[in-house]
Amino acid sequence: MSVGQRPGERAEIPSHVAVIMDGNGRWAQLRGLPRHEGHRRGLEALRRTVKNAADLGIEVLTLYSFSTENWRRPAAEVSFLMTLLRHFVEKDLAELSAANVRVRVIGGREDLAPDLLRLVEHAEAATRGNTGMILVVAFNYGSRDEIVRTARQLAADVAAGRISPASIDESSFSLRLDTGDLPDPELVIRTSGETRISNFLLWQAAYAEFVFTPVLWPDFDRAALEEALAEYRRRERRFGGLAESSARNVGVA
Ligand code: FPP
Repeated sequence: MSVGQRPGERAEIPSHVAVIMDGNGRWAQLRGLPRHEGHRRGLEALRRTVKNAADLGIEVLTLYSFSTENWRRPAAEVSFLMTLLRHFVEKDLAELSAANVRVRVIGGREDLAPDLLRLVEHAEAATRGNTGMILVVAFNYGSRDEIVRTARQLAADVAAGRISPASIDESSFSLRLDTGDLPDPELVIRTSGETRISNFLLWQAAYAEFVFTPVLWPDFDRAALEEALAEYRRRERRFGGLAESSARNVGVA
């Protein structure tokens, strides 16, 4: 808790913000444009949000860029989203690194094309020493898939006698997730007016605040980000306990 902050009052800026970037298709449709134009403009919103988040002092920004369910989209759209990730990593890496951003990619890697996998590994290695904001790109990410992969690894460790079943607890399980070394998100934002979690950070967002905005992702700008942060500050987090005012009423505060 920062100086001058009262219990139940939010830190000015959450340290980890995660975003479900939704509404690219509708943005394009509303303008009579092809869906891929919505995704292209979505990449611009992504770049803008990375800059704005770093500028506002957010320490970790996680962006849901391609879900394990997105493979069900038409092949041309899947291929376009892969191309956007390639462009993003190839074109923006130098700028991200100059801004001291550390890039991390979470999600299953076995389905990625070999060249894309190499790019991802290169982006992570090249920015590993950076000490500014951590940009986590969730790509081919699905929370259930992540949890199953983690359970499988732990089961293999138990079968090989490396660990005992009793040693598996919430904290050791957390550490083996793709996000192992990252703090849990305090705020999850979803754009486009949808109010679902869609298999995103199910474990990690156990205590997160959710802010849903009607803004379509390609229109998401600094004002929309600041409005989500303001909404977060108005919320009171209790982690299963009592709010400060209620605690006073029962004489425990
Ligand atoms: C949701 O819009 C968005 C996505 C499925 C992908 C998010 C991708 C970007 C923001 C572009 C940048 C991408 C990468 C890979 C760096 P939607 O198509 O589901 O929109 P709709 O619900 O309106 O159809």
